[in-house]
Amino acid sequence: MCGIIGVTGRPSAVDDILAGLRRLEYRGYDSSGVVAVLEDGLGVVKRSGKLDRLDAALATAPLAAATGIGHTRWATHGAPTDANAHPHLDPAGRVAVVHNGIIENYRALRDDLAGAAFTSDTDTEVVAHLVARELDGPDGVDLLEAVRRVSGRLEGAYALCVVSADEPDTIVVARRQAPLIVAAVDGVGLCASDVAALIEHTDTCAALLDGQLARIRPDGYTVVDADGTAAAADEFTVDWDLSSAEKQGYEHFMLKEIHEQPVAVAETLLGRDDGAGNVTLDELRIDPSELARIDKVFILAAGTSLHAGMAGKLAIEHWAGVPVEVEVASEFRYRDPIVTDRTLVIAISQSGETTDTIAAAEHARAQGAPVIAISNVVGSTLARAADGVLYTRAGPEIAVASTKAFTTQIVACLVLALHLAQRKERLFASEARDVLDRLDTLPALVQRVVADDTAVLAAAERFKDVGYTMFIGRHGGLPIAYEGALKLKEVSYLHAEAFPAGEMKHGPIALIEPGSLVVAVAHDGHVFAKMVSNIQEVRARGASVLAVATASSRDALAEHADVVLTVPDAPHELAAPLLTVLPLQLYAYHVAVLRGADVDQPRNLAKTVTVE
Ligand code: M6R
Repeated sequence: MCGIIGVTGRPSAVDDILAGLRRLEYRGYDSSGVVAVLEDGLGVVKRSGKLDRLDAALATAPLAAATGIGHTRWATHGAPTDANAHPHLDPAGRVAVVHNGIIENYRALRDDLAGAAFTSDTDTEVVAHLVARELDGPDGVDLLEAVRRVSGRLEGAYALCVVSADEPDTIVVARRQAPLIVAAVDGVGLCASDVAALIEHTDTCAALLDGQLARIRPDGYTVVDADGTAAAADEFTVDWDLSSAEKQGYEHFMLKEIHEQPVAVAETLLGRDDGAGNVTLDELRIDPSELARIDKVFILAAGTSLHAGMAGKLAIEHWAGVPVEVEVASEFRYRDPIVTDRTLVIAISQSGETTDTIAAAEHARAQGAPVIAISNVVGSTLARAADGVLYTRAGPEIAVASTKAFTTQIVACLVLALHLAQRKERLFASEARDVLDRLDTLPALVQRVVADDTAVLAAAERFKDVGYTMFIGRHGGLPIAYEGALKLKEVSYLHAEAFPAGEMKHGPIALIEPGSLVVAVAHDGHVFAKMVSNIQEVRARGASVLAVATASSRDALAEHADVVLTVPDAPHELAAPLLTVLPLQLYAYHVAVLRGADVDQPRNLAKTVTVE
């Protein structure tokens, strides 16, 4: 959560920091702050609330300095107040720290600093105190060494960014289980939580590895390991540009990203076979024979990525013939999952930085399971930790509500299912090629749906005030029911829940009364007739029904539903979720806009969840 940026070597570092924070705001947006290293010490401005408040404060009291760091926060310890906003300083105001993550032993560390006065409720402030004490210590250490020593005492997860009035052109960063990248270009040193903040400066960055620290100065950066020995920087090139991270005329990032899906899906499908019908991944560090032996698959993910995994399960079981369990990542490592070296773990994460998903994947890997990551961020922590990677190539997803990541994750799951099926010799190259050819028609079909949202908007206007919506589906419609409900609750704050349609009679149907709204995902296919029965059951009890149909199921649904939103027939039944989700993304979007909700920055949420 939380976004961090540091700049040294620019005439007005604070302007660059503010611009970077704008691009990081999706990581957290309940308060923000900057510190600039001025000639006579550190200058700090921080405000609770959205970044505009910080911007306004800086407009009236500008901070002119060549070096500074900034932070946009998603509160973990301490309410989102001015006092708890980052940066945090030592009592003398000589060291300033911004932090993403949680220092789990901060209470014990505070106790060790008996008598010290703290001005916030955060876990972060203690780090500033400790670094200042190291700087004041008998050894006369520099800032890098001081932060290194303090890092060794910290438990938990952190990306730390530290400046000191004593080293005006230096920023020191440290990383454990929270992303941090550094860069240097034309006499400017930079660091940030992710590339979105740096993309206007450079497309060449280096990701710190767990335990590493870096000293950043205008003339470049040096990376050291936890023991202080010099380490090589792990550089990578960012393959998208500034325009990808901007709204480009759309009112919201969510809408822009919904409309980017045709291209995102096309990109994710691009070049997925080697020309001879063999389905390939982007990176594979697993012996193909290992995949051939797989007898069980776990798909681990959170939120929207989990729902994509549910659609992926159907494809893997269908083509590869391997049993698949889909599990919430945060639950996986706290039970006793049965994992062997014949268990494949597929970890799905748009950001590749979700702590729960990374930890679950590492837990399985430690027990010998190979891990394949599906991620949208090249070089993300998850991608680096995995034995194989399939990138979703959706481009940067900024809106908190995930849309294009979801559809591309389903594409990735389909491709991976074909790959596995081939490794297990269950699919001829010609068959795989045939499926891929059919999937290649998807971008045009996606385009048809997102290009015309007239019917969705009308439905949103009709149902926008219904306080509770029940989403139902079967087979490939079920993940879409879950995803439709998640989208609606995330951006509109309306209560929405999803159930397998067949489960309704076992309890949830008791909630149905005249005026209830049921969204039924009912594409054509082998469970369609059963869906129609379930729709009739809720309608008979007074519910209004908003159905999502495919062209072939539309007519049969028309007499049973109040509104039918139709998408084209899918090129394969397993690809139907990729189309049926689109009207529900647009529905959630329009309901949120009509209700005046903050679509791109919903309350209480952050884009990337880097705490447990
Ligand atoms: O980056 P990840 O895919 O790991 O993120 C997982 C979830 O936090 C994410 O999908 C979340 O549920 C979205 N806000 C959904 O729109």
